[in-house]
Amino acid sequence: MGFSFITKDMGIDLGTANTLVYIKDKGIVLNEPSVAARDNYLKRIIATGQKAKDMLGKAPSSISVVRPLQEGVISDFDMAAAMLESFINRALENRGGSKMRLRVVVGVPSGVTEVEKRAVEDVVRNMGAREVYILEEPMAAAIGAGLDVDEAEGCMICDIGGGTTDIAIIALGGIVASTSIRYAGDKFNEAVVAYMRKTYGLLIGEKTAEELKKGIGCAFVDLNELGYEDIKTMPARGRDLASGLPKTIDVTSKDMYLALEESVETIVDGVKSTIEKAPPEIAADIAIHGMVLSGGGGMLHNLDALIEMRTGMKVTVAENAFEAVAMGTGMSLGNLEKLKRYASNRKR
Ligand SMILES: Nc1ncnc2c1ncn2[C@@H]1O[C@H](COP(=O)(O)OP(=O)(O)O)[C@@H](O)[C@H]1O
Ligand SMILES: [Mg+2]
Repeated sequence: MGFSFITKDMGIDLGTANTLVYIKDKGIVLNEPSVAARDNYLKRIIATGQKAKDMLGKAPSSISVVRPLQEGVISDFDMAAAMLESFINRALENRGGSKMRLRVVVGVPSGVTEVEKRAVEDVVRNMGAREVYILEEPMAAAIGAGLDVDEAEGCMICDIGGGTTDIAIIALGGIVASTSIRYAGDKFNEAVVAYMRKTYGLLIGEKTAEELKKGIGCAFVDLNELGYEDIKTMPARGRDLASGLPKTIDVTSKDMYLALEESVETIVDGVKSTIEKAPPEIAADIAIHGMVLSGGGGMLHNLDALIEMRTGMKVTVAENAFEAVAMGTGMSLGNLEKLKRYASNRKR
């Protein structure tokens, strides 16, 4: 009777808005909102992921629906742990007994403290993982986006998630300069809500704001061949503040540009200040090689072009912007030597 251990390499992007699980040779096997719902009477988790997100804003008081990672920190550790456990279980559906050797890399927002990182590590270890590595999001994003993080010439990544924007300049497998700002997709949504209220006296929900942002949001309005603004529109339903009644209005991409203008400049400032923190030689490399955008927020229409105009450097959106962190965590398992260095090169 022979033993054959199957080694399963798993990468987890534990994001503030979405959690993705990547398994080597399979790709992304799970992609769920980072939301968990608990029944406060039964004192147990009743739903995680999309099912829990659907309960947001609708659950009775006996049920708590939370996003356990907020603004880049773990705000509710028990819920975060339970959620992570449930996702790993789902991703491992056909576990095949205990003969599996599980190796996991978890990408966490860079605002997460060392203590929290260790706690995440424990959760994953308790799930049966023999080896666990914690990578900070920007490093994982850079690897996943296909940047060569080991080169002496620096590379630059800007990952815009739900809770945080993580900007990093990486060289020789380590982070040389970085900025983490608690300003990302969630704040973009809030800006849209505020704009609609101020401009149209219309109160819209966060979900509607997010749909508008994804649908017609932009860092600036496109121009057509004749040089005129190419305006797109999308209906938005909310409550008219004056009458208190439901109302639908057509929102334009110009509205979205105005709503998001300040948010976008906040990101631009973060990019500039990160470059300022880098040693001059590396800053010069970056000016030539440019920067890559990742994360859901990195997909905002024309954001790449705007940062390019503001900084003068080439900016591209990663082809797999949304999956970059998950893929980077999974891919990093391909070279354990390097991975150990990336994981130990955590910035403080
Ligand atoms: N096409 C898009 N344009 C602008 N923002 C987007 C788009 N798609 C997703 N987002 C935003 O990206 C954010 C989530 O990105 P994600 O990388 O999953 O975050 P996290 O890593 O924090 O979990 C959300 O705020 C979402 O609204
Ligand atoms: Mg992320």
